[in-house]
Amino acid sequence: MSIYFTRTFQRSFGTYPLRGEACRQAIETALATGYRAFDTAQMYENEAEVGESLANGSVKRDELCITTKVGIHNFSDERFLPSVEQSLRDLRVDFVDVLLLHWAPADGNIAPSLGLLQKARELGLARHIGVSNYTAGMMRQARSIVDAPLVTNQVEFHPFLNQDILLAAANETGIPLSSYCSVARGKVFEQPLFAEIGQAYGKTAGQIVLRWILQKGVPLNTMSTKPENIRSNFDIMDFTLSSIDMARIDAQTQKNLRIVGRDLIPWAPEWD
Ligand SMILES: NC(=O)c1ccc[n+]([C@@H]2O[C@H](COP(=O)([O-])OP(=O)(O)OC[C@H]3O[C@@H](n4cnc5c(N)ncnc54)[C@H](OP(=O)(O)O)[C@@H]3O)[C@@H](O)[C@H]2O)c1
Repeated sequence: MSIYFTRTFQRSFGTYPLRGEACRQAIETALATGYRAFDTAQMYENEAEVGESLANGSVKRDELCITTKVGIHNFSDERFLPSVEQSLRDLRVDFVDVLLLHWAPADGNIAPSLGLLQKARELGLARHIGVSNYTAGMMRQARSIVDAPLVTNQVEFHPFLNQDILLAAANETGIPLSSYCSVARGKVFEQPLFAEIGQAYGKTAGQIVLRWILQKGVPLNTMSTKPENIRSNFDIMDFTLSSIDMARIDAQTQKNLRIVGRDLIPWAPEWD
């Protein structure tokens, strides 16, 4: 079973684009709320703040799940492992719980970086490995390249984007998805449906959206700077959406709104 499927690690606290004091404060609130899984990346340039905040917090290292991601600028043979060692120094840990490849390289040749990722695991720099922003085809290819389990493909996942092809690939390959942009960077709050559904459960629009993602079988990454949002995003384990409400939300995926597209990330793949 993927590390992200344990009850606590299903709800991971994302740290992009937090830096400095804002990052430290958000992590302090997230730890006090009960978050034990934290998501960062070399590209976020905040691993040092994340490491400092977690080291200064009162939660023991072995109760935490720390995920970081190797940026594509570090995918060469010379840079990959030294960059992971630098991440560990910044994060103040001997290993990360999960090490992801942040993106596939622009030329789509995923084998070399997957080989280096596996090497990092063999060297004990990461307990688990996975990928991010892989297409269904890349997930199938990765499965045939890597011997170790890939514990996630972290992808954009929210009610305004249909990811059925990736969900089917997750089933087929055994590489589970996990979410980012879970509340579509706030866009879900422009749609009254979620608050309307929430009235029946005594839950907020955000909690309905996050619960829908979890019930699709997808562990979460959420980020907020506001204590009330950090707490409410965590408080989603005491109710279950009915199949009727799940279907009402499923219908929203036809909007096909992609937030992290080629306009933001020029090396993004041709999505499914
Ligand atoms: N692998 C990748 O390529 C990739 C890409 C993007 C993100 N990520 C990861 O995924 C994490 C989450 O994604 P994201 O932060 O980009 O998008 P997101 O979670 O969809 O959106 C974050 C924004 O939504 C607002 N928000 C969050 N919860 C809310 C609530 N309950 N009510 C109202 N507003 C709320 C936050 O504002 P307030 O601060 O005002 O609450 C924040 O501005 C990131 O932090 C990062 O760790 C990974």
